[in-house]
Amino acid sequence: MMDLEGHNILVTGASKGIGKSIALHLLEANARVGVHFNRSAQEANKIKRDYPLSETFQADLSNADEVEILFKRAIKQLGKLDTIVLNAGVFLPQSTAGTTKEWLDTWRKTMAINLESVGLITKLGIEHFKSTGGGRFIYIGSRAAFRGETEEYLAYAASKGGLTSLARTVARSFGKYNIKSFVIAPGFTRTEMAEEAISKLGEEKILNEMALKELTKPEDIAPMVVLMSSGQMDHATGSTVDFNAGSYIR
Ligand SMILES: NC(=O)c1ccc[n+]([C@@H]2O[C@H](COP(=O)([O-])OP(=O)(O)OC[C@H]3O[C@@H](n4cnc5c(N)ncnc54)[C@H](OP(=O)(O)O)[C@@H]3O)[C@@H](O)[C@H]2O)c1
Repeated sequence: MMDLEGHNILVTGASKGIGKSIALHLLEANARVGVHFNRSAQEANKIKRDYPLSETFQADLSNADEVEILFKRAIKQLGKLDTIVLNAGVFLPQSTAGTTKEWLDTWRKTMAINLESVGLITKLGIEHFKSTGGGRFIYIGSRAAFRGETEEYLAYAASKGGLTSLARTVARSFGKYNIKSFVIAPGFTRTEMAEEAISKLGEEKILNEMALKELTKPEDIAPMVVLMSSGQMDHATGSTVDFNAGSYIR
């Protein structure tokens, strides 16, 4: 078991799904974890009750002011951050057959949460890491950035493409400041986010597309974040690790 004692880590969207599993794995490895949530206060508070090393932070990441306040509060309460996990995201369908207004509303909401908040946390994180001697960013991207998505998810795929390019540029530009940057790119993972798509497409179709016998679960992904946070993967900075059960091999 890897020991992250003394590491302070902020995880966005840690109240549910992949982010929650990441937070729990980091806490089990003795890290101090900032559990960010937006609407799922009950779930976040349960983590706080179960793990004294955790602190909870509420913020709606579609609002840039709240993003900045979240970052300042996290540093105030956790102190120096060692790793920032940018996991929060939405998977909103939009139809090209709908009105321009509907389409643009969904596009903007997706970009605000999945890309703009990620860009802003990166900017604030770089400032912080430069002043503390370095740190790590771990971005939760998607298979969609590489394979492309189905037609209702143009905005989602574009947001994850942006996130991936951002993460790679951070790795190339700030390595000399001891800042590392990684991407994890999941395929279908059994969470609330994917549940609707899984039931719409049919589980059998999804299982047929992949090499492994069962759908990926959040716990299949989370140990990679523990390893990335430990420093043992630092020379893989800039890389993307695929977690798609062999459904799309690049
Ligand atoms: N599940 C998949 O198949 C899959 C595949 C590829 C990539 N991913 C990526 O993995 C990440 C996690 O997805 P998931 O499946 O675990 O999703 P999930 O179960 O729906 O959880 C999403 C998390 O993001 C937070 N969030 C959503 N909107 C927010 C907002 N406006 N402000 C702040 N936080 C917000 C939620 O917070 P609250 O509940 O507290 O509001 C929740 O903690 C996402 O970036 C997603 O794109 C997922």
